[in-house]
Amino acid sequence: MNIVLEAKNLEKKFSDVLAVNKINFKVKEGEVFGFLGPNGAGKTTTMKMIQCVSPKTGGDLRVFGLDVNQYPKEIKQVMGVVPQMDNLDPDFTVIGNLIQFSRYFDIPLEEAKKRANELIDYVQLNDKKDSSVDKLSGGMKRRLVLARAMINNPKLLILDEPTTGLDPQARHLIWEKLKDLSSKGITVIITTHYMEEAARLCDRLVIMDNGEILVEGKPKDLVKKYVGDHIVEAENTTEIKTCLEKNDIKYEIANESVEIYNENVSDITNLILKECVDSGVTARPATLEDVFLKLTGRKLRE
Ligand SMILES: Nc1ncnc2c1ncn2[C@@H]1O[C@H](COP(=O)(O)OP(=O)(O)O)[C@@H](O)[C@H]1O
Ligand SMILES: [Mg+2]
Repeated sequence: MNIVLEAKNLEKKFSDVLAVNKINFKVKEGEVFGFLGPNGAGKTTTMKMIQCVSPKTGGDLRVFGLDVNQYPKEIKQVMGVVPQMDNLDPDFTVIGNLIQFSRYFDIPLEEAKKRANELIDYVQLNDKKDSSVDKLSGGMKRRLVLARAMINNPKLLILDEPTTGLDPQARHLIWEKLKDLSSKGITVIITTHYMEEAARLCDRLVIMDNGEILVEGKPKDLVKKYVGDHIVEAENTTEIKTCLEKNDIKYEIANESVEIYNENVSDITNLILKECVDSGVTARPATLEDVFLKLTGRKLRE
């Protein structure tokens, strides 16, 4: 399988901030590859280096085998981008934004009009075709930016938090489109704060923190490896903590609750109910969010 993206010791320094600290990853053709991480982890900085809009300060980065420093034009021709902040042009209508953008790729006007209409239909904005962009809702703007990213028929699509702040309907529509594009062989790179989204969409992902990649793998494998299949939860009280410690059961504090990662869910549950508390012990399937919190901690990041 072809490697679309390869980073070796990729680094980005902003004067005194090391935003991306020598990261390594490879993305294969047709994959949906995710970048997760708390605010400030270095996700957007990494996306911008791939987009050839923010030069790396160290290491090697190749897109379709091409060095980002040497071939930015060639790379941009075959890439579509949904940036973290919508940057639509308020002076143009919905369709106007697409046609205007097509000029960066020297697409002939007739062809641009045809594509713009098809894409507006694809992201279900037919009713808004001639509206000004400031009349659009957040979800509509995201869909329009996705349509814009597709104007040059990219082979690689980069989406930086494409669904942040969207309602469930808009989010599901974006998911559906990304699955469809991926099934057509387009490689998709996505950053998100929504673990369920990452678990559903991504073939593989990395979790970043402080400019470094902590782990890489398939969502299911990461859950199995770092948390297990299930989590036993109970209310966080002094009484239960003392009891768990007495019985040599390891636990983690998750604010209001204590969490126990253990393969023997029913044994542990029964033991806690027998030895520690009378009720309020539950088991649930482990998720990618558990992995994320375990690896990046519960301290708030602004
Ligand atoms: N243009 C910039 N100048 C200085 N520091 C920056 C700049 N862009 C990002 N940073 C810093 O780099 C780090 C990573 O930021 P970013 O890549 O935006 O993180 P994320 O997208 O994961 O939230 C942060 O500490 C941020 O403050
Ligand atoms: Mg970001």
